Amino acid sequence: MNRTARLAGKTALVTGGSRGIGRAIALRLAADGARVAVHYANNETAAKETVAAIEAAGGSAFAIRTELGVPGDAEALWNAFDAHADGVDILVNNAGIA
Ligand SMILES: NC(=O)c1ccc[n+]([C@@H]2O[C@H](COP(=O)([O-])OP(=O)(O)OC[C@H]3O[C@@H](n4cnc5c(N)ncnc54)[C@H](OP(=O)(O)O)[C@@H]3O)[C@@H](O)[C@H]2O)c1
Repeated sequence: MNRTARLAGKTALVTGGSRGIGRAIALRLAADGARVAVHYANNETAAKETVAAIEAAGGSAFAIRTELGVPGDAEALWNAFDAHADGVDILVNNAGIA
């Protein structure tokens, strides 16, 4: 199977996609052709590094910041997402503290 084209035209949101497991998921989704929203809470540098790694590999991504677990978090998350993309196809709820 051509992995590059498998998710072409799809947009993914990976919460906590800037570091750790979420970063690995974001990189894989982008390698499969999806445009990826790399979500983070505080570490903008890590989010930018993940976006840069995706773009360096020929993929497409953007970073969005939202603190989750606080009042209004879901609305803030989707407002940030909607500023960059028109609808989500794949949602990975990964953000959290191990
Ligand atoms: N690693 C493990 O062994 C393990 C085991 C079992 C379950 N898990 C689960 O797997 C998921 C990923 O784990 P990981 O080890 O890859 O985590 P990690 O490396 O610590 O990365 C956590 C990610 O979630 C974001 N995040 C954390 N708290 C947040 C909040 N309140 N609002 C918004 N974003 C938040 C972080 O953003 P910032 O960096 O900007 O803060 C970062 O992008 C977590 O849900 C964890 O509970 C992990």
